Amino acid sequence: MDEEELQDDLRVFSGRSVLPPWLRSFPAVYLALALSSLLLLLLSSLALARVSSISSQLQQELLGQNFSDRDSFLFPCGPDSREWEYFAGNCYYFSLARLSWGRARERCRERRAQLVVIGSFPEQQFLMSRTRNERFWIGLTDENSEGKWEWVDGSDYGSAFTFWGDGEPNDSGSNEDCAHLWISGRWNDVRCSFECFFICERPLPPKPQHSQHSQHSQHSQQHSH
Ligand code: BGC
Ligand code: CA
Repeated sequence: MDEEELQDDLRVFSGRSVLPPWLRSFPAVYLALALSSLLLLLLSSLALARVSSISSQLQQELLGQNFSDRDSFLFPCGPDSREWEYFAGNCYYFSLARLSWGRARERCRERRAQLVVIGSFPEQQFLMSRTRNERFWIGLTDENSEGKWEWVDGSDYGSAFTFWGDGEPNDSGSNEDCAHLWISGRWNDVRCSFECFFICERPLPPKPQHSQHSQHSQHSQQHSH
């Protein structure tokens, strides 16, 4: 009697399995494993694709490359530069704060620009129309060697355009080593610690890449002329 019960229990126990019946055969186990690895692979490649798309979007955003043709027409100096003004291939920033010449030069550098270097009368006229008779620093100094004027970008001073006021530069008080625009836009030397407005200049950013459509319409416009 006891022996028989034991045999029955053993039969029941050995018939049990942790796996559901449909998984008890080997091919089904392999199939399930293969399917789940495939799913895992698919999900991770989807996640990777999403991450790389977000990162390239972010990069474009930072570089301003998704700036459209129309935007660049309205704001040629770039998407983050609405306070910059365009003239003849360059962008100009007219400060709203007054600083010493040295600090103004730093501010321009922080804006990936430099204190303005004036190379021609048209450029001078553009600046004058904007500065009126207010004082604005320009990128010209003789602080390295008295009387030896130097542009911040190393442009040749000697043979180039100048627009000093009458009797300037006069190094008044033997203490005037930095140049600014003043009355009628004429240049004056003044002490570098004087605080006045300043003008930064930087080249035009590269034009946005044309789509095939806009290239096509440009061509057809050229042909229609
Ligand atoms: C002079 C300038 C000088 C300035 C200093 C003016 O009266 O004409 O040459 O730089 O004073 O503030
Ligand atoms: Ca002076």
